[in-house]
Amino acid sequence: MSFKIKELENEDDWIFFTDLDFQSFITTIQDANQFSEEELRQKYKEFEESDSLNPRDSHHKIFIIWDNNTTRAGLVWLCNREPFWRFKEQHVWVYNLHIIPQYRNQGLARKLMLKAEEWCVEQGLNVLALHAIDDNLPVRELYESLNYKLVETHKESCFYEKRL
Ligand SMILES: CC(C)(COP(=O)(O)OP(=O)(O)OC[C@H]1O[C@@H](n2cnc3c(N)ncnc32)[C@H](O)[C@@H]1OP(=O)(O)O)[C@@H](O)C(=O)NCCC(=O)NCCS
Repeated sequence: MSFKIKELENEDDWIFFTDLDFQSFITTIQDANQFSEEELRQKYKEFEESDSLNPRDSHHKIFIIWDNNTTRAGLVWLCNREPFWRFKEQHVWVYNLHIIPQYRNQGLARKLMLKAEEWCVEQGLNVLALHAIDDNLPVRELYESLNYKLVETHKESCFYEKRL
């Protein structure tokens, strides 16, 4: 299979983005399987409304990984972000990383995270940071294998940072 990473370009890409953002949101809900799809969508809507983030803003960048130029397999959502809280420098924040189930365990998330590092350098920055839920072992293993350091924990949240 041949995989290619491209920037998000059109409205179909945005639909894919929103769908995977919702899927990743579900991974952050405790006991998500106790809720119906409708309830989860309502929670997602409330979360979105409580948040002033605009991924269409120019500080944001979304890369989609394609299988053979025909199928979207996953994405990474990045932001060139001001210092906040314990992250005291301008940095790249990873808002979402998601590979659709049928494409997992083929190294695609690793490729996207390496692309994120490239984009970070292009932005003139040398720090990437992100948040993971403590029981999301696949993603934590991935970040740790890429030398992200756990810099803070709070309840079920783990905050990681990598200096290039
Ligand atoms: C986490 C996720 C992005 C990994 O994507 P992936 O393409 O399958 O990951 P890769 O194939 O690139 O794996 C890279 C490394 O991640 C780790 N990893 C991935 N899946 C794993 C699993 N199920 N268990 C343990 N480690 C895992 C391993 O270290 C792996 O390296 P290895 O193959 O040398 O062992 C994917 O499972 C996913 O999209 N999950 C749902 C969304 C999500 O939880 N996103 C997190 C932020 S909200």
